[in-house]
Amino acid sequence: MELAGKHLVLGLTGGIACYKIAELTRLLVKAGATVQVVMTEAATQFITPVTMQALSGRPVYVSQWDARMPNNMPHIDLSREAHAIVIAPASTDFIAKLAHGMCDDLLSTLCVARDCPLLVVPAMNRQMWQNPATQRNVAQIRADGVEVLGPDSGSQACGEVGDGRMIEPEAAFEAICASFQPKILRGRRVLITAGPTFEPLDPVRGLTNRSSGKMGFALARAAAQAGADVHLVAGPVSLPTPWGVYREDVQTAQQMHDAVMQATPDAEIFIAVAAVADWRVDHAREHKIKKSSDALPAFNFIENPDILASVANLPNPPYCVGFAAESGDLDLHGEEKRRRKNVPLLIGNLGPLTFGRDDNEVVLFEASGRTPLPRADKQSLARTLIAEIAKRAPSGGSLLS
Ligand code: CTP
Repeated sequence: MELAGKHLVLGLTGGIACYKIAELTRLLVKAGATVQVVMTEAATQFITPVTMQALSGRPVYVSQWDARMPNNMPHIDLSREAHAIVIAPASTDFIAKLAHGMCDDLLSTLCVARDCPLLVVPAMNRQMWQNPATQRNVAQIRADGVEVLGPDSGSQACGEVGDGRMIEPEAAFEAICASFQPKILRGRRVLITAGPTFEPLDPVRGLTNRSSGKMGFALARAAAQAGADVHLVAGPVSLPTPWGVYREDVQTAQQMHDAVMQATPDAEIFIAVAAVADWRVDHAREHKIKKSSDALPAFNFIENPDILASVANLPNPPYCVGFAAESGDLDLHGEEKRRRKNVPLLIGNLGPLTFGRDDNEVVLFEASGRTPLPRADKQSLARTLIAEIAKRAPSGGSLLS
């Protein structure tokens, strides 16, 4: 579980977005975190401590003078146990207090007394967000090392539209997970392809393959969590875009090739995970092919461009990582493919056996030899692979820009 062993203080302040914190709490608990909820008096007007206790499985603290703590110092004890404090939703007033180090209730006192990271998830009306005082306060807390997540833009509970609404619980959850990951790719620009491609035969039919896109999306998520700027070029898959990742959807191998070639000058690392169709028909029919009794349809195939090889053979390529999904003799095909594609690192697996599965077992092929990695779920494996890639990709090395 992603947050196993992590203890979070989740602080709610007064705002209608409190209803979103029920879902956030559920996500955090499901991921293995222990969640200690602390609420301001105002927050209890929006969601009850009973609801938050039921979801977190722990008694909720509101008052600074809560006698349940043996030493009567909840402001010290609660923050000492925490790996991070998350304020969600964070009201205008609470952000102002943080900016000025004020502590007139349990939650604000906890924040001032903490020795762990503080994450703040603002939620407020757009005018309150735009108010110069709020903007000053947000800039101040950022300068003090507080991580500010959001806000989003869109329609607000008050009926107005603009910046200030709280990011969705899933996004807050993703950002909290990311905050625990070491920033081994901070600021590095990573380009990733993922998923299958779809090569049309006619307007309703086409050629594709069984790639689920899970491995490529897991790598995009892990790279973003490691602090990279991630550009994900995705074939047709129905997976949610990982938090903080820029996603470009394509259908065909040619479209994927064009998108990648356009993005490559900005990339320091290119990870080709997509299962790209090797062939397409020379011209897809404009109208649906009708079943006829006299002749079966026949097609001429032509080869698609090899995206990875095109990038790897540029005069000054990014650090290129290939994937190989083989149905047998991985060692032979893996190393042969690494050389043929001219890439420093190729990650091989027995692909057809793992398509769609949530775990995977891979071998790293590079000039110095092969390194098998233990079987793991795709998300943990993605973190391991990102760490391996970060170790190898030269920093500021072979860049076009
Ligand atoms: N690849 C690519 N463009 C293609 C084909 C493959 O970028 N047109 C990339 C894949 O994303 C992967 C690597 O090349 O990183 C190997 O893909 P794979 O399908 O295993 O290799 P092929 O070159 O197609 O060889 P074969 O199908 O004959 O095994």
